[in-house]
Amino acid sequence: PRRILSGIQPTGSLHLGNFLGAVQKWVELQNSGEDAFYSIADLHAITVPQDPKVLQNGIFEMTASLLACGIDPEKCVLFQQSKVQYHTQLCWVLASLTTMAKLGQQAQLREKRNIIQELSTALYLYPVLQAADILLYKATLVPVGEDQISHLNLASFLAKTFNKRFGNTFPEPQAFINEDSSRRLKSLRNPLSKMSKSDKDPRSRINLFDSPEDILLKCKKAVTDSISAVEYEPEKRPGISNLVVIHSSLTGRPIDTICQEVVGMQSGDYKIAMANEIIEVLRPLRERFNQLINEPAYLENVLKVGALRAEAQAQETWQDVSRKIGIGRNQ
Ligand code: TYM
Repeated sequence: PRRILSGIQPTGSLHLGNFLGAVQKWVELQNSGEDAFYSIADLHAITVPQDPKVLQNGIFEMTASLLACGIDPEKCVLFQQSKVQYHTQLCWVLASLTTMAKLGQQAQLREKRNIIQELSTALYLYPVLQAADILLYKATLVPVGEDQISHLNLASFLAKTFNKRFGNTFPEPQAFINEDSSRRLKSLRNPLSKMSKSDKDPRSRINLFDSPEDILLKCKKAVTDSISAVEYEPEKRPGISNLVVIHSSLTGRPIDTICQEVVGMQSGDYKIAMANEIIEVLRPLRERFNQLINEPAYLENVLKVGALRAEAQAQETWQDVSRKIGIGRNQ
């Protein structure tokens, strides 16, 4: 089996972009017997201000969400990042192998600069911590959405840099991006930007466990153009194409099939039809989530077991790293 690692921040609800861009793949990889580690990246979340109570809840909510999506703690290691101390320790080591100039160039940082006035130091280190997440488990494959590619590039740069200076230690990690069009879902309010947890407008995204009424309303209100035909033309008609992608990815029917089915249908009617179909696909997930969120003792236990299993692996890498850089004991 291959070593897989990925992570998700426990802020806000899981939305269709997270699910179709990443989590669905996590479940597939876990089910096909790969050796998978999935982390709830709470240390990444605090690089921007968080309300402590909301964050605490968010960690539980994300745990329940991932389980509801089919993540199975018997088949993979599901854990809370901050419970394994070696993430921050390796982050520090890797931070010493890169420069402020390089970190300052990140595209994601530039985007944040438009929203937040004063960027925390931790935001500069954000991708270095992500590299530590990956390298600590010597992962070779990292299933993520397209927006994470630049972070993955830094992780592979840091792996190479470390190996060159201290001897072969880390395999080079590779991003594993969906082949299909769901690698970057768009906002329902502005099809030129990505569907995101941090968008102020809740109608811009469909959360996985939204009520049927909300899903219907959000689909009906989705911004499309003035042409009424339903087509998949992502360049020319990003709004309607995004809906077709969501519809296709959730039902498993190819984009072409969907487009043929709806020839002659007006986009307004299509929005209602696709909403009704995705409501049914998501219904069992929402039911499972509502059940799990009322079982805090179970969730607690899942995270406890996950942390122990993750720690065992992380500790091994850390001992090797600390010895190689000259701060560990030579046993
Ligand atoms: P986060 O929490 O923003 O998102 C989790 C995953 O969802 C994907 N995603 C999308 N995919 C397609 N379309 C969208 N609109 C969309 N929005 C989000 C993201 O690409 C991601 O895969 N930095 C990471 C968390 C992280 C991590 C890691 C990832 C921490 N450590 C180690 C991989 C490896 C993040 O903020 O994801």
